[in-house]
Amino acid sequence: MEFDILTLFPRIIEGPLDESILKRARANGLVQIRVHNLRDFTHDKHRVVDDKPYGGGPGMLMKPEPIFEAVEKLRRNDSCVVLMTPQGAPFTQHRAREFSKRPHLVIICGHYEGVDERVREALVDEEVSIGDYVLTNGALAAAVFVDAVVRLLPGAIGHEQGAADDSFEGGMIEGPQYTRPPEFRGMKVPEVLVSGNHEQIAKWRAEQAKKRTQERRPDLLKGEKS
Ligand code: 6GU
Repeated sequence: MEFDILTLFPRIIEGPLDESILKRARANGLVQIRVHNLRDFTHDKHRVVDDKPYGGGPGMLMKPEPIFEAVEKLRRNDSCVVLMTPQGAPFTQHRAREFSKRPHLVIICGHYEGVDERVREALVDEEVSIGDYVLTNGALAAAVFVDAVVRLLPGAIGHEQGAADDSFEGGMIEGPQYTRPPEFRGMKVPEVLVSGNHEQIAKWRAEQAKKRTQERRPDLLKGEKS
């Protein structure tokens, strides 16, 4: 899978995508991630990427020209162009899985007060928000998005079952987990987990996941999200 990411702040995104599992996925050739500075697609002396909104109002908008030039250079027939924006549809595990099936994503990071609407109209296939809060910077959101998508690629986390058991797969969050030691500061690991009875363990885990989901995320059980 391939990503081309367009941002005014490449360093924000390069750090998180060059550690741990994503670093390994890139080294193994599972994914190619290229980060581009939108200023490299300007042609004026001051490399201007933003301007005032028509009609007045606070803040600056991203100009259309550098974004159009970059997307038109990078996109292919099989590309999906994604705009990171708090106005997008909420990002969910389900959407992450759908995006992970695409061969090529071009990601536009919105900055400042947003992008000129003609970018949306003419270039963008999908709009993504990572949650109901506002970030100063779409590059942070893009790092979150890319992480969630890449870890779903076959081979990225080593054990495929790992992704299948994740929170939100199957419409639930995960229940409690324990590692050694069996007793720590007087707190014991539940007996069933050390019993070796795999049937009982699976049953206990399913019950705990359901209980935790009911308590913390009843919206998931009503099929409202994820
Ligand atoms: Cl994708 N961008 C920004 N700037 N803020 C956000 C967001 C995206 N998703 C949630 N908040």
